[in-house]
Amino acid sequence: MSDAKTYPPSDDMIANAHVNADAYEKMYQASLDDPDGFWAEQGKRVDWIKPFTQVKDVDFTLGNVKINWYADGQLNVSANCTDRHLETRGDQTAIIWEPDNPDDDTKHITYTQLHAETCKMANVLRSLGVGKGDRVVIYLPMIPEAAYAMLACARIGAIHSIVFAGFSPDALGARVNGCNAKVVITSDGAPRGGRVTNLKDNVNQALLNDFDEVKCLVVKHTDQQVAWRGDLDFWLHEELDKVSDDCPPETMDAEDPLFILYTSGSTGQPKGVVHTTGGYLVYAAMTHEITFDYHDGDIYWCTADVGWVTGHSYIVYGPLANGATTLMFEGVPTYPDASRFWQVCEKHKVTQFYTAPTAIRALMGQGKDFVTKCDLSSIKVLGTVGEPINPEAWNWYNEVVGGGTCPIVDTWWQTETGGHLMTPLPGAHAMKPGSAMKPFFGIQPVILEPTTAEVITENPAEGVLCIADSWPGQMRTVWGDHERFEKTYFADYPGYYFTGDGAKRDADADYWITGRVDDVINVSGHRMGTAEVESALVAHPKVAESAVVGYPHEIKGQGIYSYVTLMGGEEPSEELRKELEAWVRAEIGPIAKPDLIQWAPGLPKTRSGKIMRRILRKIAENDYGALGDTSTLADPSVVDDLIKNRMNR
Ligand code: WTA
Repeated sequence: MSDAKTYPPSDDMIANAHVNADAYEKMYQASLDDPDGFWAEQGKRVDWIKPFTQVKDVDFTLGNVKINWYADGQLNVSANCTDRHLETRGDQTAIIWEPDNPDDDTKHITYTQLHAETCKMANVLRSLGVGKGDRVVIYLPMIPEAAYAMLACARIGAIHSIVFAGFSPDALGARVNGCNAKVVITSDGAPRGGRVTNLKDNVNQALLNDFDEVKCLVVKHTDQQVAWRGDLDFWLHEELDKVSDDCPPETMDAEDPLFILYTSGSTGQPKGVVHTTGGYLVYAAMTHEITFDYHDGDIYWCTADVGWVTGHSYIVYGPLANGATTLMFEGVPTYPDASRFWQVCEKHKVTQFYTAPTAIRALMGQGKDFVTKCDLSSIKVLGTVGEPINPEAWNWYNEVVGGGTCPIVDTWWQTETGGHLMTPLPGAHAMKPGSAMKPFFGIQPVILEPTTAEVITENPAEGVLCIADSWPGQMRTVWGDHERFEKTYFADYPGYYFTGDGAKRDADADYWITGRVDDVINVSGHRMGTAEVESALVAHPKVAESAVVGYPHEIKGQGIYSYVTLMGGEEPSEELRKELEAWVRAEIGPIAKPDLIQWAPGLPKTRSGKIMRRILRKIAENDYGALGDTSTLADPSVVDDLIKNRMNR
């Protein structure tokens, strides 16, 4: 037994949950013994236009990687999220929309309305020339139109690529270019925490020079003035007036792409993760129902943004496929004050609440009165995602928000995995603060020794985390670059999907994610490649070289620590520091702004010129007693200078 304190589910939870401990064991074993039989059964969760006869067709061998699920089946995702609910729950609320400003009106959108809005938006997209297989970029605030736009694309077989509204025009332009999008859907403005960003301006900047074929469909949301790009721009409300609400869903193959979502990796620029139609939907729907123990009548709220995978799977596709009521929140946790999350929970009687550890830590710092003045008795299950949760934050979440009675599902997964891969289940597992606990059905985690790639079978174990076999929600490829897909995920540990994370398995065979083992950092639950920030910094004319690493940050989990070497003749100054911060914001977006910039006359390099990032990480972590061997450095003295001028003392 491990010595971690455990929190078993209540008798009530065990009695009412979809899956209790016995059922978990039986189902998990069945999912390994007979994957085809198990997933054929789960495939019935969605409606098929043409039923599948094949289930799994997978090869993880480098050079030959293929991942197919339900390959000969045909279906439409938007029909699964709207049409099929009309008869039984047409008048039920599908989406509750809560605006940034609490004084503005909440919206309740029924399944009947959601269906009509989706069909109309789909017809508008068709009228702009979008057809099956075409790409549409969505760059919207958290408004219902974001969900309509996703479902509208799915309805006509177009592939959406959502770009988080916090990304800069440059980052947006790169993503429009990356998938050769025909249309960008945006809004005039995007309010967040009382401040409005002019999204249409960002789109104009992104598209102005190189994209004179890309049309832009604009939602009127904030009523502010926007600049028009002649006849390439269209107001959504004007176009909606011209179309009918009848739009038969396109018949899609299970393996037709549903969406592309760019995410950061170890090297280079972000890559377009591709998810397909059938397997993704089955997996999103199943994990949504079972992980959150969703029952009819529940009010489910995931606080993520649709710009990230969590918003795709657990605000839109999973919940809507299940006919759930899903809450969509436009604002931020601290506006107008630190009570906002809890006021929204009280107002809508939220039953499942799913957020990120960074939000919990930020709110924890504001004191518990903001929470306790609200009635949170409706909440049954709490969830977290995005980064490891520290025990202090877990305990606060459990006691102050959950009143000590709500299971916390600590869901570990990735953009690449489409849905949860490891999590405790509310009625099945005695939770341990900070542990992602157990694999979901069909998931076979393995821990490997990092250098020898040997599988560690005994417990406890620690090493790199791989997955031994496929599951229906797994990404299929990198958009336009299958070789990069294979190299990134299947080359380092042959025969396995390599997650990029490290993990421990304790004496009870429970899993603990220890964080990324590559050059990806996790800032406020947002994933970022250090290489991206470095390339933004070196694009500045005064910067000669830069190296970026993560360091522990109390609220954000990790902060961005940048070492910058200036061009000869340039002098460090406060002004230049500010200029570089603003520069990175403009190149990528506010989430990439360096927290600390250290002027580095030299960087620690091997004699062959490779930067030794391990050393830079240790210095940033304030752990330079453990620098290890520096004798292979071309110039060991640079390390002394870096230590002397460390930023976060
Ligand atoms: C990290 C977000 C610990 C992990 C869904 C992973 C977590 C990366 C957890 C993926 C968790 C996510 N505990 N770490 N519960 N959830 N991570 O693609 O390092 O934005 O590889 O997907 O976040 O981030 P992504």
